[in-house]
Amino acid sequence: MVGKCPSCGAWNSYVEQVVRKESAVKQAISGSNGMKSKPMILSDIIGGEERRIDMRDDELNRVLGGGLVPGSLVLLGGEPGIGKSTLILQTVLRLPDKKVLYVSGEESAQQLKLRADRIKHNSSDCMIVCETSMEEIFTHIKNTSPDIVVIDSIQTISTEGIDSSPGSIVQIRECSASILKFAKESNIPVILIGHINKEGTIAGPKVLEHIVDTVIQFEGDQHYMYRILRSIKNRFGSTSELGIYEMRQDGLRQVSNPSELLLSQDHEGMSGVSIACAVEGIRPFLIETQALVSTAAYGMPQRSSTGFDLRRMNMLLAVLEKRVGFKLAQKDVFLNIAGGLKVNDPAIDLSVISAILSSNMDSDIESGLCMAGEVGLSGEIRPVNRIEQRIGEAQKLGFKQILIPKHNLQGLDTKNIKIEITPVKKVEEAFRILFG
Ligand code: TYD
Ligand code: MG
Repeated sequence: MVGKCPSCGAWNSYVEQVVRKESAVKQAISGSNGMKSKPMILSDIIGGEERRIDMRDDELNRVLGGGLVPGSLVLLGGEPGIGKSTLILQTVLRLPDKKVLYVSGEESAQQLKLRADRIKHNSSDCMIVCETSMEEIFTHIKNTSPDIVVIDSIQTISTEGIDSSPGSIVQIRECSASILKFAKESNIPVILIGHINKEGTIAGPKVLEHIVDTVIQFEGDQHYMYRILRSIKNRFGSTSELGIYEMRQDGLRQVSNPSELLLSQDHEGMSGVSIACAVEGIRPFLIETQALVSTAAYGMPQRSSTGFDLRRMNMLLAVLEKRVGFKLAQKDVFLNIAGGLKVNDPAIDLSVISAILSSNMDSDIESGLCMAGEVGLSGEIRPVNRIEQRIGEAQKLGFKQILIPKHNLQGLDTKNIKIEITPVKKVEEAFRILFG
């Protein structure tokens, strides 16, 4: 506040005038607006299938919902070292007729060359640039006009406009917002790579999830060679899709028939092993559930589960105690899904309890037998989805018998089924069939 006018010397002659932007409402009424968008009637909008870019990788295409959508922003998340850079580099190197700009903020061009040499590829139009400045990246994009842009990784990129170190939430948010704007305006798809830690809590990809169109996650156990590509969010497809890869010396190999690989070769005569027919996305596959039950020596019995929800396992143990007299308090129970897989399909419940009972009794389950069924709190075997596909997969892999929920028999077309189907209604019934 100035009391005395410095030019004429008068006191209290100043009046505050607020300079404000013309409000949107006023603008709209006066008609003089700079609006770029215009409401349209839904039926006037020309739709049609988005033309997607075929990534020449069936697993990746499926997880993306049928290919990469032009102008979309895709985030590939995963723990460091899981194989994100390998997956994207090998994919873009095998893409014919597409100019790709691969921006690496983590590795030098030499390191990338070394990696590319390991992966079998035909020389393609892939340009590599090692850069971390957002402004520079946009200049490179302008100069090279690529068809696809890859940024590895979002945590290493920073913009001059913000005085904060790369990898901080503000930087990540700001950079990805400008990348999103770029993708939408140019219709060029951008693949962002982002690191997450085990809990997925580290600043970064979680902040990004609502900004980007699609979030895919690369998972797996460092000790296993299998990698799972999962869709977490997808504006252009289903989120229940799954892609399976195997990490090899020469890059990632697509696993098109997961069942064959996930079943460990020979388990004849082994107790504690049971085969479940699971479905992830729309693909059925057979997995091996393994259990070890031993007498709890001291105090609290131990419970551990890998690849299956521990709380669900505890629930199933309680059902077993009530229904078939499993002595819960005196047993240590360890459960494992073979191959380092994480399975969310409740249809593997039946197999989980069978493996536990098998280990507990030290009696093996006949080889050639598999099962699918959800277990309810009162021990009932609840129906599961996609039963025809599960049966079909078991049959294809040479199984002789499959246990299914009794309710699933309704409407089941048994014409082409050669495998023996055994319907079960309760846990007790399954127990009798398996162990006599
Ligand atoms: P990388 O793609 O660098 O992981 P991220 O980008 O997710 O951090 O993968 C690193 C691991 O993959 C590394 O431990 C070596 C292994 N690898 C192979 O086993 N075979 C290969 O052909 C390549 C390129 C990497
Ligand atoms: Mg990497």
